[in-house]
Formats: sequence, structure tokens, C-alpha cells
Amino acid sequence: MKQAKFPMETAGKVITCRAAIAWTINAPLCIEEVEVDPPKAGEVRIKIISSGICGSDNHILEGKTKTPLPAILGHEGAGVVESIGEGVSSVKPGDKVLTITVPQCRKCDSCLHAKGNCCLKADVIYPVGLMLDGTTRFTCRGMKVHNLFGTSTFTEYTVMHEISVAKIDDAAPLEKVCILACGVPTGYGAAVNTAQVTPGSTCVVFGLGGVGSAVVLGCRAAGAARIIGIDINERKFARAKALGVTDCLNPRNFKKPIQQVVVEMTGVGADFTFEAIGTIETMVAALESCNLSYGVCVIIGVSPTGSQLSVDPMKLVSGRTLKGCLLGEYKTRDHIPLLVEDYMKKKIDVNSLITHSLPFVKINEGFELLRSGQCIRCVLIF
Ligand code: APR
Ligand code: ZN
Ligand code: ZN
Repeated sequence: MKQAKFPMETAGKVITCRAAIAWTINAPLCIEEVEVDPPKAGEVRIKIISSGICGSDNHILEGKTKTPLPAILGHEGAGVVESIGEGVSSVKPGDKVLTITVPQCRKCDSCLHAKGNCCLKADVIYPVGLMLDGTTRFTCRGMKVHNLFGTSTFTEYTVMHEISVAKIDDAAPLEKVCILACGVPTGYGAAVNTAQVTPGSTCVVFGLGGVGSAVVLGCRAAGAARIIGIDINERKFARAKALGVTDCLNPRNFKKPIQQVVVEMTGVGADFTFEAIGTIETMVAALESCNLSYGVCVIIGVSPTGSQLSVDPMKLVSGRTLKGCLLGEYKTRDHIPLLVEDYMKKKIDVNSLITHSLPFVKINEGFELLRSGQCIRCVLIF
């Protein structure tokens, strides 16, 4: 393939390209021609090269988590900067980048705090689907189309704020590293940053999809001695074991609640539990699976919009810690490029999480692979 020259002749102009539009929930995405505006001040236009399909994209299409439609979904992307708006200094045309849902503005309270990573400029917790100036850069058939989490990667070109764009190594293989934009850091960081899994510990991972599998990699890297994987889809078990899961459980094979099974198996409950599914029921099960006095439970899954978690406070009074994290608590622009380096040094096995690759136009097949539980991660190639 001929290498594109940068800066491109498209800079400053509207680009017409293909994108997958989510017009409504519970319907296939439609590949349409869209117009993508040039980046405004502080913004970057990116040519998308690959994008993973994440459980969060599917939650939106199934109507569980709400974001305004029509929209261009997708957030786990890798691409090349096509052009930059006024004042952009951290990336230039031609740079390889990842599209990150959680910005790092380096100015807000969260960014300035030593541990905080939920940048106040993020549009991810209660999304409005617009750029910070309240407008969108996408038009389809004369209609304005929302973005998703300030990213939108199911399109040949997208526009993002500079603060959400992570510049990565020029040698990184873009058809693989896209999953380092969301699934991998979300799971891996939950284990190594949020829970701070200790050597010799027992961990339980609820959900063995893309995110849960990355949790397993993190637990293993941190030296966990036992990793119990829980999923209702037993097709996930063989791969999970190859990644480091020591015991696999299907809750449907037990009459008693799975938390009771875990407590009995471990004798005392687990040191660390992780919820990587996104249902209230499995969040409660994860909390009750950890040791009553020193157990730590980390919520990663995105719950249905408006849902409430109800727990007996005495389950916390006994000493358990209930935590959550967003994108693995990484300061995204600082740390995610370092994870890419770790991948390049073969320290994080990203490739084994990518079970399928499809051309972008087969996006609906990709969603079907996720829904039917056939894939861990399906990556779309543009
Ligand atoms: N009990 C056990 N496992 C379940 C249950 C359940 N009740 N419901 C679903 N699962 C399993 C599925 O079989 C699947 O293997 O959870 C896994 C979810 O994985 P994916 O669909 O691949 O989703 P993933 O991308 O891993 O995201 C998981 O993390 O970031 C969040 O929004 C995301 O909430 C989602 C979660
Ligand atoms: Zn995601
Ligand atoms: Zn910030």
C-alpha cells in the first residue's frame, strides 16, 4: 500500500467518507456516506486504521446504556493524524495515535490529582455525544450526527479533542494496538493499578470477554496464584485457561449463588474480585465473593443507565473495599503509550485477545460475533 503523504491535501477541507451510523437502538448499523468537518482549535482529525468492538458499544446498541443517537459509535481505535486544528502541539499529521475515551487535559482537578484519571472534560459517564463546544463534526444526509465519548471510530475519519488523543510509537502495528485504547488498559489496569493485586493472591474475574481477559493478564502479571474465571458462556473457558485462569465456573451449573460457591472453594473468599460484565447482579456477586474483612472488589462493567447498586452496608463494615475504575486508572495520554511500548516488548500479550479481524464494512457481523460470544475481541480493519 502506498504510504500517504502528510500534511494531506485534505487539510482544512470537509472530508466525505464512509461511516457506520447508529440511527436507532436494536437495529443494524448502516454504512453511509458522511461529511467530516475539519478540526477546530484544539482538535485533531484522524484517519482510522482499525477499531475494536467493545462491550460498551454493544450496550449502547442494545439500549442498556444511553447516549444520544444518531451517532457514530466505536471508541477503541487506532489511526494516523490527518490534520490538526489551531494550537494543537502534542501531535502532528502523520503521527500514529490511539483514540481514548477518557481525556487527560492536565489542568482539571482529576488530572492534577496524583491518582485521579476521570478527567472533568470526559464525556463518558453521562455522555452528551458532542464536542466540548456543544457541536458535532459529523453530518449524514444533511443531519447532524453525534459522536461517542468524544471518540467515534466506526468511521474512516473522525475528529477528536487533542486531550483525548494518545500519540504512540511509530513502529506500533495499528491493526493490533487499537485494543490498547480501551479493553486492555481497562482490564489490565483494574488489576495492577486499582486492586493492586498481590503475589500469591486469589482473584476472581466475572466475565471472560475482552475486558475480563485483560484483567486475567493483569492478575497474572501481578503474580496471583489462583485466578477463578466466571462466565455463562463455556466457550470462553479454553481461551481463559490459556491466558492464566486456573478454575472456570459457569454460574448456571450451580443451584446456589455463585458467590457462595466461590467462598466455599476458597474457604475464606477471594482477595480480589473484578466485575467485567455490567449487570447489577454480577456486581453484588463479585462483592460477596471477596473476603469479608480484607477483600477488594473492583467494578469495571458499565451498568445500565439509571440502575442502582443495593448492598447490605454490613458487607462493607466488616472490612471489604468496593471500588470502581475507568480505563484502568491510567492517566491516559501519559500511560497508554507506555502500555503500547510494553506490548512491543512482548510484556503484554495483546494478540491473543484478538480472535477475529474483519473489514470495516462487515461491522454488523463483528457485533454478532460479540453478542453470540464467539469472539474475545473482533477488530475492524479500514
Ligand atoms: N454471568 C456471567 N457472565 C456473563 C453474564 C452473567 N450474568 N452475562 C454476560 N456474561 C459474560 C459474557 O458471556 C461475556 O463473555 O460476560 C462477558 C462480557 O464480555 P464482552 O461482551 O466481550 O464485553 P467486554 O468488552 O469484555 O466488556 C465487559 O466491561 O467496559 C465494560 O462496558 C463494558 O460492561 C462491559 C464490560
Ligand atoms: Zn470500551
Ligand atoms: Zn482533566
